[in-house]
Amino acid sequence: MSTKIVQIASGFVVLVGMAYMGSWGVQAEPTENLPSQYALGRDLYRQDCSTCHLAIPPGIFPTETWQSLLQESYHYGARIQLPTGPERLLVWQYLRDYSRTLREKEKIPFTFAESRYFRALHPKVDFPIAPTFRSCLQCHPGASGGDFLSASTDTLEKAKSTERK
Ligand code: HEC
Ligand code: HEC
Repeated sequence: MSTKIVQIASGFVVLVGMAYMGSWGVQAEPTENLPSQYALGRDLYRQDCSTCHLAIPPGIFPTETWQSLLQESYHYGARIQLPTGPERLLVWQYLRDYSRTLREKEKIPFTFAESRYFRALHPKVDFPIAPTFRSCLQCHPGASGGDFLSASTDTLEKAKSTERK
């Protein structure tokens, strides 16, 4: 098979994958009534993982990404202190149960731009430049408090017009 066909074929797989995610919906964590063992895990996750950047919702990455991040203290050029013992287990259970797994042979994404799940949560948004932790705040003003639900269309318009300048 020529490379061209391989490219088209993989593009097709991505499209079908996104349609699949779209029709089933990507479950974001509930903001209220999170069962207590998960609420504790979430609080610990936010405490441990928001000192250098935002703590983002688990559904943004597949389970495999979180698993790997929780095992590796060398972290994107930084060195991080990982949670240990029961704390680690609670954080892991929260991240595991509120994310979805990858399909077989799918590459583990380590950036927003690479994550099919990130794109599936943004059906209406185009990202001409790779999104970063800083860019989340442009459209999700409540992101530092864990609120990613509010992203109004005018924040979206604003973000677009700043990009154009
Ligand atoms: C000591 C600071 C520090 C801590 C603590 C930290 N990180 Fe990071 N993290 C970074 C840096 C630096 C990057 C590179 C991207 C950047 O510069 O924002 C990064 C990037 C990431 C990314 C990639 C996002 C992207 O596409 O740019 C994820 C996901 C992530 N961190 C998750 C976590 C998780 C989960 C924890 C808690 C276990 C954590 N981080 C704790 C410093 C930290
Ligand atoms: C250009 C604006 C924009 C940027 C930048 C952006 N988002 Fe969004 N986000 C939206 C919009 C708008 C929605 C609603 C879905 C849609 O219309 O596509 C959304 C939806 C979401 C959702 C789903 C909310 C839910 O529970 O239904 C999550 C989670 C999310 N964004 C996280 C992030 C993270 C994390 C970042 C940074 C890496 C980010 N977003 C960057 C505009 C943006």
